[in-house]
Amino acid sequence: MRATVTAHKDYTISKIDPRLYGSFIEHLGRAVYTGIYEPGHPSADENGFREDVIELIKEIDVPVVRYPGGNFVSAYNWEDGIGPREDRPVRLDLAWHTSESNQIGIHEFADWADKANTEMMLAVNLGSRGLDEARAFLEYVNHPGGSYWSDLRKKNGRDEPWNVKLWCLGNEMDGPWQIGQKTADEYGRTAFEAAKAMRAFDKNIELVVCGSSSPNMATYPQWEYTVLDHTYDSVDYISLHMYFTNYEKDITNYLAKSAQLDAYIETIASVIKAIKTKKRSKKDVYISFDEWNVWYHSSEQDKAILEGQEGWPHAPALLEDIYDFADVLQVGCILNTFIRRSDVVKVGCLAQLVNVIAPIMTLEGGPAWRQTIFYPYMLASQYGRGTALNLAVQCEGYDTDFANSVPYLDVSGVLSQDGALTFFLVNRHESEAISLDLSLQGFEHGSVIMDKEMVGHALDAVNGPDAETVTLADGSGAAVADGKLTAKVAPLSYRMIRLR
Ligand code: AHR
Repeated sequence: MRATVTAHKDYTISKIDPRLYGSFIEHLGRAVYTGIYEPGHPSADENGFREDVIELIKEIDVPVVRYPGGNFVSAYNWEDGIGPREDRPVRLDLAWHTSESNQIGIHEFADWADKANTEMMLAVNLGSRGLDEARAFLEYVNHPGGSYWSDLRKKNGRDEPWNVKLWCLGNEMDGPWQIGQKTADEYGRTAFEAAKAMRAFDKNIELVVCGSSSPNMATYPQWEYTVLDHTYDSVDYISLHMYFTNYEKDITNYLAKSAQLDAYIETIASVIKAIKTKKRSKKDVYISFDEWNVWYHSSEQDKAILEGQEGWPHAPALLEDIYDFADVLQVGCILNTFIRRSDVVKVGCLAQLVNVIAPIMTLEGGPAWRQTIFYPYMLASQYGRGTALNLAVQCEGYDTDFANSVPYLDVSGVLSQDGALTFFLVNRHESEAISLDLSLQGFEHGSVIMDKEMVGHALDAVNGPDAETVTLADGSGAAVADGKLTAKVAPLSYRMIRLR
């Protein structure tokens, strides 16, 4: 099979916001306790943070991490996590039916984020609480001093404000599972008033209002329309969440699901435009895709844990999906979709970062390792920054129950600041290689400087603490000649080719 692609230097989509490659840490399962924090672990630093985990996070170069939830935030009192640790209360977390020791709170998380070389994206609780809590938390985190909350922060050991820029106005407020679920009108009003109070403190913070928890919600996309109708001029982003499954183990169908993601983004981009027009507004609102990943491998295990569970355990092994090679291809297609829609999707958070549906896993007292999906995420974060190119792609496609003409070749292209040109490719075909014929127009002719691929693994191959077999290999045969990049992209493979 052949694919003809044209890239032109002046034919671009958008500058990519680096925060497209963000992630997420929730007080859920073992993300925090025995994930990023495990005092007594051989690699723990003086604050109990696992340095082996930090090293892996640095390999990815994660620009921003959303915290502290997720469902957890909707009944969370952030004040429980400040002050002397021995005085902090143990609370029952209603979202995940666990106990929260509050040994990690905003101070510790901020120290960790600093060490992991990432920014914080904080969520306020608009479920069980409201704007009063939101304004107090914001003042505690961002005010230099001379007020009740900022002086309390100083007393608790942090002199300088953290100056967090990006704030989520609650989490998944459309979901019946959410503590304090609201109708779109109730939430729209609440979010509007919270935004007003937070902006009265600082008009330059960036605010994310909740969109739908998934495109399967009965209230989608009316939810976004109503919520934005209340909040359009007060917010900067609307959040979307989407998780992918492959219960049927049907790879062709599975890999077409990024077409649903594309349609989801397209629909919300249209809702944003409709409200912008209705408001006669000059301002733009963008999408913060602040939860996305594959999530289904652990469903049965989680059901068994939750059904068999007695009491309220602390940090049980919840949502510990072990990712396979099929998921590498899927995550590759998702990241390509975000790059192609970087005109409207500005922030993205792979949910989550450690142990909980995560690219990085740990064993308590044992090693940390890279799951299969670590690699496409790492390559996109490292080499997918710059300007997204609007590629013209001609390639045979296939139909599924939910999408037509899904091309066998999924591709995105990024022109980096240093002039390097990177193509991310997934061949969705089960058995046929794709002969890539990529015309480079307006670029100075270059050469291949990096060619990495993931190929040849069983679809259910996984990595574990003892062996990381599903990993990157060097690709071969890619060449640039006469203004064309040519390569043979193997069936069911993920590939990144970088040109100077
Ligand atoms: O990421 C896991 C959970 O998925 C989050 O807590 C919630 O926001 C979503 O439903």
